Amino acid sequence: MSQLFIIGAGGHGCVLAELASKFVGDLRADWTTVILLDDQRNRPALEIGIAVSGKSSELKTSVGTGDSFLIGLGNNRRRMQLLHTMRSSCAPATLVAPDAHVSPSCTIGPGTVVMPGAIVQTGATIGEGCILNSGCVIEHGVTLESGVHVAPGACIGGDVTIGECSLIGIGASVLNGNSISPDVVVGGGGVVTQSLHEPGTYVGVPTRPLQ
Ligand SMILES: CC(C)(COP(=O)(O)OP(=O)(O)OC[C@H]1O[C@@H](n2cnc3c(N)ncnc32)[C@H](O)[C@@H]1OP(=O)(O)O)[C@@H](O)C(=O)NCCC(=O)NCCS
Repeated sequence: MSQLFIIGAGGHGCVLAELASKFVGDLRADWTTVILLDDQRNRPALEIGIAVSGKSSELKTSVGTGDSFLIGLGNNRRRMQLLHTMRSSCAPATLVAPDAHVSPSCTIGPGTVVMPGAIVQTGATIGEGCILNSGCVIEHGVTLESGVHVAPGACIGGDVTIGECSLIGIGASVLNGNSISPDVVVGGGGVVTQSLHEPGTYVGVPTRPLQ
């Protein structure tokens, strides 16, 4: 029997717990139980039929051989900090929804989640602790550094590079060949037509820095 710990019982953590619990008893999954932990909440934010079992410190006391964990936090920097802290006790899992398309030539880092309907094309390199959210498209040859979140419906064109902990907002697009620095937020619906070399928030079509 192996356990998958999900840390964070807010909206994103609940989505992960519900998706991961569908795999219980499935040969594709390394876990037979999903355990939800949260330091602030004693109930999950959404009704998913899984209770909060305790605080994140429970992972260290309950972890056994073959167990793994995911961080269910949407904040990119906080997710990465917790991922680095927790991996001294346990191995990060990788969760890929059954109806996502992930090319066999991609690499997907530990702690990354690929949500339903996401498409990850040929030769993409996805770092650790990323969120590839519902229905997003990651085209051929893309590199996502660790902690990147590509929000629902966002499209990343071929050969784009996105730096650590950046967020590409809901329905935004990054045109092919561009590079985005770490710690960039592209607002929902924005279209990135040129590389963004400085951290910051960019919105609009084409994107401009948010004043
Ligand atoms: C861009 C964003 C980060 C700005 O958030 P914020 O700093 O709180 O900014 P505000 O909501 O106070 O808006 C500031 C101004 O920017 C405008 N604005 C906000 N988001 C915008 C967007 N996506 N595109 C164009 N303009 C936007 C607002 O209308 C407002 O304009 P005003 O000053 O003329 O009234 C946010 O709106 C956004 O798009 N986040 C992405 C969310 C997302 O995709 N999350 C993933 C969830 S799964």
